[in-house]
Amino acid sequence: MSGLSESVQGRILEWYDVEARDLPWRSDPDPWAVLVSEFVLQQTQMKVGLAHWYRMMERFPTIESMAAAPVEDVLEAWQGCGYYARARNLHALSVEIVSRKPPSLPSNPRDLQNLPGIGPYTSAAVSSIAFGYPVAAVDGNIRRIHARISAEERPKDRDTQTWADESLYRNRPGDWNQALMELGATVCTPRRPLCGRCPAEDVCLAVKTDEPTKFPASRKRNSKRIEGHALVIRTPFGIHLTKRKGSRLGGLWGVPITEDPKGIDVLCDNHHVEKHRSVGRVRHAFSHRDWNLEVWVAERNDGGLDPASVPISKLDERILETAGWIRA
Ligand code: ADE
Repeated sequence: MSGLSESVQGRILEWYDVEARDLPWRSDPDPWAVLVSEFVLQQTQMKVGLAHWYRMMERFPTIESMAAAPVEDVLEAWQGCGYYARARNLHALSVEIVSRKPPSLPSNPRDLQNLPGIGPYTSAAVSSIAFGYPVAAVDGNIRRIHARISAEERPKDRDTQTWADESLYRNRPGDWNQALMELGATVCTPRRPLCGRCPAEDVCLAVKTDEPTKFPASRKRNSKRIEGHALVIRTPFGIHLTKRKGSRLGGLWGVPITEDPKGIDVLCDNHHVEKHRSVGRVRHAFSHRDWNLEVWVAERNDGGLDPASVPISKLDERILETAGWIRA
């Protein structure tokens, strides 16, 4: 197995130079801007991710500004981006970097990977895009492009990495990595690839099979389905919210939830409410959990606070919206 030839590399870069979306960190690859883009864009479509990136950069234009802020402010600004662990990691990373002399992000992928929240993909992306370090960044797009070009239904991660390393255009590594990401996001898409517009069509083995979407074969989902309940207790003062514990939503405020499908009565007992009514359902997928929660509303006369006054998760935001709460 070998990587892409020089002529295919050339065509992909020519395509990228013409077709690339105009993203703010591409014309000015400031390391902090690039790092924030990679944190925000993980598992998010570009259109949505971009809006989050602008909001984060407006609130925290420099690494120093984030390091100086309490983590609650970062969680608050992160609302809507999903996976709050990433926001915590970004904050911890900023504090770590600002404590160093000089307070700057390392440029090589090995040192970047020692920082909170940075794995092989993010380190390679930041290192190549912000610092021009010649390293291949392998994300889902690149995995798909490799599977299709080589018509392999289940390429091993190690083989994809080798292919990406051998294909890397070393004179413009940041542009090269982004060109492949761009190709995967806009042309070599999962369901409806636009093969006629692909600069690598003539070397793609999948297109010759007339069924390019067969590659790669979809991975079996092994997430656990959870049928549970969420209880929204309204009071004259707001809504009953408590600070959650645990790694996933820890530190954020939310409504009482049970993962027991028969647990709504116990949940009501525990929170001293009697009457309740069902107002809808919220589905929410975490990495290994697929939550399908029935949302209930009940009333109490005491306690409660304004949900806008505390950081809450996207899940809780959706639960509250289902119960009729609208963010001011
Ligand atoms: N996804 C994550 N980072 C990206 C980038 N720099 N360009 C395109 N897609 C991306």
